[in-house]
Amino acid sequence: MSPHKKFSALFWILWIALIFFLFPTTHFFSADASKFSSIKQKVEAILPQMTLEEKIGQMTQIDSQVIMNNLQDISAYGIGSLLSGGNSGPSFNSPESWANMVDRFQSYALKSRLKIPLIYGIDSVHGLSHVKGATVFPHNIGLGAARNPVLVEKIARITAMETAALGIKWTFAPCIAVPQDIRWGRTYEGFSEDPKLVSLLGASAIKGSQSTNLSDPTSILACAKHFAGDGGTEFGTGYPELLDQGDARIPEKELRSIHIFPYIAAISNGAASVMASFSSWNEIKMHQNKYLLTDVLRKELKFSGILVSDWAAVKQLPGTPEEQVKLAINAGIDMVMVPDSYQQFIGNLTALVRKQEVSEERIDEAVRRILTLKYKLGLFEHPYSHRELLAQVGGREHRELAREAVRKSLVLLKNKDKILPLSKKLKKIIVAGRKADDIGSQCGGWTITWQGATGAITTGTSILQAIKKAVSTNTIVFYSTNGENCLGADAVIAVVGEGPYAEMKGDREDLSLKTTDLKTIRNIKDAGVPVVVILISGRPMIVTSEIKSWNAFIAAWLPGTEGEGIADILFGDYQPAGKLSYTWPASMDQVPLRKAKNSHSKPLYPYGFGLSY
Ligand code: BGC
Ligand code: BGC
Repeated sequence: MSPHKKFSALFWILWIALIFFLFPTTHFFSADASKFSSIKQKVEAILPQMTLEEKIGQMTQIDSQVIMNNLQDISAYGIGSLLSGGNSGPSFNSPESWANMVDRFQSYALKSRLKIPLIYGIDSVHGLSHVKGATVFPHNIGLGAARNPVLVEKIARITAMETAALGIKWTFAPCIAVPQDIRWGRTYEGFSEDPKLVSLLGASAIKGSQSTNLSDPTSILACAKHFAGDGGTEFGTGYPELLDQGDARIPEKELRSIHIFPYIAAISNGAASVMASFSSWNEIKMHQNKYLLTDVLRKELKFSGILVSDWAAVKQLPGTPEEQVKLAINAGIDMVMVPDSYQQFIGNLTALVRKQEVSEERIDEAVRRILTLKYKLGLFEHPYSHRELLAQVGGREHRELAREAVRKSLVLLKNKDKILPLSKKLKKIIVAGRKADDIGSQCGGWTITWQGATGAITTGTSILQAIKKAVSTNTIVFYSTNGENCLGADAVIAVVGEGPYAEMKGDREDLSLKTTDLKTIRNIKDAGVPVVVILISGRPMIVTSEIKSWNAFIAAWLPGTEGEGIADILFGDYQPAGKLSYTWPASMDQVPLRKAKNSHSKPLYPYGFGLSY
């Protein structure tokens, strides 16, 4: 070779090397992005290899029940995400069979052309609460009363670990609603009526779920929900009930200062996802509100994660199914919880892009966010469940933490003549009331099933069992469901309140106690013995006239599986320390909150109230 030719060969080699250095797009040759060091590079390497349909597949989230009999569609469409809605799990409910189910779905994703792993989502809203045998923590209303950010972070950490064990790397939690009307059936999902408290605890929950590093095997994505105004809907505008999924008829200033406020801390603490709200703001559905979803959430609040739609919420938008999809995607939704008619969704969105009614940039932007988080979670390297963590699901230490959370969440509202704490050496204690031996009612909605259920639905300790364990061997503990036969008891503990419910089924116009509960308490009083009332409920209830005859009163909210936390307080092993995170109205005339604030009449107990011993 002449020196001249040698030089020109070298020249070309250097040129090609330079091009590869500057544009590390070896995706011309392979789908393997693993050789790139930064996540950004990996994402940019995969994106150009994806067909439009595959990109839209990544934006699709299907309910597991729906896809169960069409698993090959996960591979064929390159589906990005599955979820277990409130009623979708394996037929046999155990941590192992959940892990088997999730892994099975994942194996189909890994058979797709580009082998992009699924991200699986679930409502671990108070522990891994759909899974039998998992630890169920108090619902957020109780954690609001505990007012302890460190505790909330720890709970979210443990919940993440139990969830990740199953291969589920995304929780639709925390709910950072700021409920202003306790008639709403989702009041208990909110920490408080006060945006500052919600903001503090919401941020802690996010830190706990995601930990300091998403690639940690025990980290899962948090989801701040539901953006925005879910807790501010007007009575009578809801669907199919009174307030749920209704319309927040409030000025922007109020929307921002109450309902958007907690998202500021959520985002600055790294919330990797946000869920749009079913509700509307001044008659416009949130899922089509580009101003709030893009201008405010993205541009102003600098949210960079995945914006997911709520369950079939896109189908509630105006217009044809295609127009609905157009509205939602152009408003800024990145992933659509379809959750069923996925072929129709994929077909519609593909057509919209081809017609240039949704831009390819919008699609790429959404897919980038989804892939980035999949890489950050380490799903490409470890797509399957973390079976080494399975043994810890519902483990002793986790239950100890839940018990601690229960005792810290109780609010002592009345303690006449210091009847509490009770001595563990009383001769005869009667435990009364429908809710005394009912783990399902302690847990409330979003437990095992969507609406929850009464009875022994999962492993745990009922309040009755907890009391029996706590007292001395010489103490006799009787259970009287209806409060009869209490004569001669040294103390009676009546456990009353609401049965389980969740969204769409929990709105109530009247928050008085049920007549059966009132009758139970009356029977006890007729025997002339002192009564300690424990209320299990997802919100304050109207007890103004009844409470006069009660000796002590504890709001226990929805404490979850660890009833021993209640015995800890009843018998004085710990001091009650919970403070109301919602105003306790004296009558329904003081509901919603705005009315209580404007009224001259005093609430039964003000926000922040709570006694100690
Ligand atoms: C609820 C969400 C929940 C989703 C998935 C919706 O109906 O509003 O809070 O995350 O279902 O179960
Ligand atoms: C699902 C829930 C969902 C609800 C809303 C239920 O069947 O299990 O996850 O939130 O439907 O309609």
